[in-house]
Amino acid sequence: MEKILVLDFGGQYNQLIARRVREMNVYAEIVPFNKTTPADICAEGYKGIIFTGGPNSVYDEKSPHFDKGILSAGIPVLGICYGCQLIAYMGGGEVCCAESISEYGKTDLTVTESPLFEGVPQKSVCWMSHTDYVRTPPAGFTVTAVTANCPCAAFADSERKIYGVQFHPEVTHTEYGGRILSNFIKNICGCKGDWTMENFAGTSIAKYREELAGKKVLCALSGGVDSSVAAVLLHKAIGQNLICVFVDHGFLRKDEGDTVERVMKNEMGLNLIRVNAQQRFLGKLAGVTEPEKKRKIIGEEFIRVFEDVAKEIGKVDVLVQGTIYPDVIESGKGDAAVIKSHHNVGGLPDIIEFEKIVEPLRDLFKDEVRAVGRQLGIPEYLVSRQPFPGPGLAIRVIGDITAEKLDILREADAIFREELDNSEFGGKANQYFAVLTNCRTVGVMGDARTYGYTVALRAVTTDDFMTADFARIPFDVLAKASNRITNEVRSVSRVVYDITAKPPATVEWE
Ligand code: XMP
Repeated sequence: MEKILVLDFGGQYNQLIARRVREMNVYAEIVPFNKTTPADICAEGYKGIIFTGGPNSVYDEKSPHFDKGILSAGIPVLGICYGCQLIAYMGGGEVCCAESISEYGKTDLTVTESPLFEGVPQKSVCWMSHTDYVRTPPAGFTVTAVTANCPCAAFADSERKIYGVQFHPEVTHTEYGGRILSNFIKNICGCKGDWTMENFAGTSIAKYREELAGKKVLCALSGGVDSSVAAVLLHKAIGQNLICVFVDHGFLRKDEGDTVERVMKNEMGLNLIRVNAQQRFLGKLAGVTEPEKKRKIIGEEFIRVFEDVAKEIGKVDVLVQGTIYPDVIESGKGDAAVIKSHHNVGGLPDIIEFEKIVEPLRDLFKDEVRAVGRQLGIPEYLVSRQPFPGPGLAIRVIGDITAEKLDILREADAIFREELDNSEFGGKANQYFAVLTNCRTVGVMGDARTYGYTVALRAVTTDDFMTADFARIPFDVLAKASNRITNEVRSVSRVVYDITAKPPATVEWE
């Protein structure tokens, strides 16, 4: 299988680089810079290597460096941002550290002829994010691009197929970024591009079939797309040795628990145990209002429930989780700031009675997970479902949670989703739901004063859920949803629509 190595120097766009490569139907593997050697790289048969960006300056004492043997392995290399500076610095070029010329954002780029820039106009816009810059490339390299502040925005040794770009071709703001990456992957590395999600599914199934042979594996099924795909993938690998435990924590949407049980058990043939643990979760959460605390409690309780089930099942060796990449970064990988500790990443208790945890979708973005799901034959309506957070409605009832509030939210949410699904606007929002705020307001019904809950409607458009915009739903669709909610759902006297983007807000209210 053709594959590209993304050598990770800690940059924020590393997964995006891998994703862009995979979009060209070439498998990309991300490996930390210090976890491989030139010998390993040659043995793996990579067709090309991309050095990622990173937060360091090449002059920092502890800045990550690469083994120079990589550049003489005869494999094409593309260094991006820090990766580019490192090639220059380690090859004897000149890297300058000058605060005064740091470039951030869209920048005019002028390129000269180079295999990397085939089909790229002489002038275009690129995305820059750097303080250090390369002043002179190493011996044997020529400058192939400049910007107003960057005398060497790209360099190349076309003979050895080693390239460096100061800007970020993986970011959509770089006008010809896709073309540049495709030039590298297809033309320079010579990849044909025949990798598909079918390969990913096939390779993963084969891998886990071998790795988990003879093991009893327990899968944490939460009801969402991610854990469903993880479960079916593992089921295809190890069949009945996979026991799926579907914990209905009571925070699922209307009718969701029954649908998941029916599809997974009857249609997909999974060995599935449903645990109705609503009371247990509600008890633990009584009076808890702080969102992070809710997540931690739910995450821990999930594991506790599994442990209890595991005791009944007998010895269990491995736990499977449906963690996907955005969960990982938003929970603070490495030194990144913790925004929300998504329960399936952050909330694991210290004492855990499983040998290990397997996360087959950890490197995939949402759309990639859906593609894998389709390959595995999971019904379309389940695969294309909007994402749903692990802690479910517990983080959509603002403040303390009660069974009554959950019922109110479930009804309001079902109405809003139904109205949007049935409207022309339909699938244009990537995630849409209702939130039960803890704000009560005065209303009037008939001749009487009411004092009921305020329901907030949230709908966002986004590519990757890392950033999002509020969906421009037509007013008449909102009006209909509002009207139905206030008429049909007891105790709701007001409906509002959230018009905040992410950032500064997040998709969920908690
Ligand atoms: P935020 O609110 O962080 O949401 O902008 C981004 C995406 O993540 C989902 N989300 C969660 N998923 N556990 C999850 O599994 C969580 O605790 C959690 N919090 C948010 C959210 O629904 C959106 O799709």
